[in-house]
Amino acid sequence: MFDWQAWHGQYYQRVEAALERSIPAQEDGDQLQSAMAYAVRAGGKRIRPLLIYATWQLGLAQAKEMQAIEQVDAAAIAIEFVHTYSLVHDDLPAMDNDDLRRGKPTTHKMYNEATAILVGDALQSEAYSVIAQMQIPAKLKVQLIDELARNSGRLGMCKGQSIDLASVGKVLNLETLEKMHRLKTGALLHCAIRMGAILGGLDLEQTKVLDQVAQDVGLGFQVTDDILDVTQNSAALGKTAGKDQEAEKPTFVSFMGLEASKAYAKELLDKSTQALSIWGSEADPMRAIVQWAFSRKS
Ligand code: IPE
Ligand code: IPE
Ligand code: MG
Ligand code: MG
Ligand code: MG
Repeated sequence: MFDWQAWHGQYYQRVEAALERSIPAQEDGDQLQSAMAYAVRAGGKRIRPLLIYATWQLGLAQAKEMQAIEQVDAAAIAIEFVHTYSLVHDDLPAMDNDDLRRGKPTTHKMYNEATAILVGDALQSEAYSVIAQMQIPAKLKVQLIDELARNSGRLGMCKGQSIDLASVGKVLNLETLEKMHRLKTGALLHCAIRMGAILGGLDLEQTKVLDQVAQDVGLGFQVTDDILDVTQNSAALGKTAGKDQEAEKPTFVSFMGLEASKAYAKELLDKSTQALSIWGSEADPMRAIVQWAFSRKS
């Protein structure tokens, strides 16, 4: 029987250890470095890194070559750097203007706005540097860089954030709301799965199935984020609850109500679970992460 607690504990520790090594926290008067360490080490679910390991493990069931786990560690921290940069910038006064993140003062509150902007900038550069230094064939590095760049940039996360900011106070139609969620949040989750597939040596057929899973989990993750914003308190979330309504953000809850949003999330969960049924026990970690993405309380 698959033991999710044990799997989660093992890989969560791996991610934390890799992140610790990546940005030494010692204060040598360099405020940027200390602020980067602050943002990265503040905790968080680390779901994108965990998705990379879980997808990579799907390669266990086939003869094709998988990359070594130390290389997967590098990809895991690269995506967490990009995600953390997106959160640091998302919290800035020019964006969502939030004071609390991962249970701690946001980076611009702890340091200052200019430093928080630089933290995001530098984390992004660092992510690509980590990939460039990986000990894997150059062709795979280029694929990883391409996935991360496309999913986080002009046609990915940043585009979603841009739609989000332009939508304040507006009522979006379902199509635009879904597009915004798929881009601002779904794209990086999709990227994690793609990176895991590259490192696990998965074939095109398998990657196609995973693309569908990623689409549903990516959208469902942000629908769940919208739900949690109204159902949990700030202490549980580690970020300010009730913020979406206060900031007049269009969300699934504002669009279709809480119960319909929950039902929609359940539909997306069922679809992803169904798609994963082509795999055997090697997909157990993946199934558990997908469940968690929808049932989480923070
Ligand atoms: C929060 O992401 C922002 C969204 C994309 C919804 P997470 O819910 O993954 O935040 P952490 O990393 O666990 O703090
Ligand atoms: C953020 O969406 C998505 C990002 C790319 C950071 P939200 O603005 O809803 O995320 P939270 O609720 O602040 O974590
Ligand atoms: Mg936002
Ligand atoms: Mg926000
Ligand atoms: Mg939110």
